[in-house]
Amino acid sequence: MTSLTSVAPSPVSNAQPAMVVDDVVKRFGRGPEIVTAVDHVSFNVAQGEFVSVIGPSGCGKSTLFNIIGGLLGEYEGSVMIGNDRISAPHPAVGMVFQEESTFPWRNVIDNVAFPLELRGVAKSERMDRAHHFIDMVGLANFEKNYPAQLSGGMKQRVSIARTLVSEPKILLMDEPFAALDEQTRLLLGDKITQIQQQLHQTTLLITHNLTEAVQLSDRIVVMTYRPGRVKRIVNIDLPRPRTSDVVGSDAFGHYVAEIWNDLREEASRGMADSESAANRRGSHG
Ligand SMILES: Nc1ncnc2c1ncn2[C@@H]1O[C@H](COP(=O)(O)OP(=O)(O)OP(=O)(O)O)[C@@H](O)[C@H]1O
Ligand SMILES: [Mg+2]
Repeated sequence: MTSLTSVAPSPVSNAQPAMVVDDVVKRFGRGPEIVTAVDHVSFNVAQGEFVSVIGPSGCGKSTLFNIIGGLLGEYEGSVMIGNDRISAPHPAVGMVFQEESTFPWRNVIDNVAFPLELRGVAKSERMDRAHHFIDMVGLANFEKNYPAQLSGGMKQRVSIARTLVSEPKILLMDEPFAALDEQTRLLLGDKITQIQQQLHQTTLLITHNLTEAVQLSDRIVVMTYRPGRVKRIVNIDLPRPRTSDVVGSDAFGHYVAEIWNDLREEASRGMADSESAANRRGSHG
């Protein structure tokens, strides 16, 4: 394996930011019931960079994802893509969700071609482009299959291809692999890395899986448990091109151990919080 000393300077370090998240605050509810889900969060993502946001359950990751995706228009601070402040879905952004989102009544190629169909792209071009992205996610032999005939990991690859087919400048993914077993997750991670290397796709991944975050990212934004703030931003200087083999390396282990320290602290706070809420309910009931 390539040693860490041979790491080339990151090709993205001097790049223009593709996205700037600046002092974003999001509260839900009002009065004594108010919940601050995202609290003064700032970071940016450079063009071609792969950034993960990691944090315990309830720390505001999906809220942030929805704000950046333009699905939650009212918030404080700004998310800028180019000169646009995001308050509605932006054409440069493609989203992949945690839940299974393939259309069961369409086969793989018609699922992937769907966004092009909506835009009125002619059939032959639509099929060409869909083929291209189906190849890229490794589903070339499954174009005629229906989602019910595919595994969970394959269905997520269909969703990813369907988002990529629109060639978004920025790819946003919220826990896309959460429902998958660890081996499938690692191998799908390899696919994502290959695609990243081919397309230099600017990507923001939301996850609570540390292995996945270190395997895939150039940088990791570690969030605190409620209110969700940025605890730390860690550069992952593991060599690229990367494969899932990197998971066995010492350097990988160091990153995991280092970030886990932060995460454990936050996850424990989350656990204590839910236990005390349960106790309060118990004493009232
Ligand atoms: N629409 C909403 N109305 C009220 N509160 C909300 C709403 N959406 C999220 N919240 C609250 O905001 C906080 C953050 O939720 P969010 O879903 O962003 O967390 P998360 O980090 O994505 O968690 P998970 O890892 O479990 O998906 C939680 O306390 C949640 O209850
Ligand atoms: Mg979430």
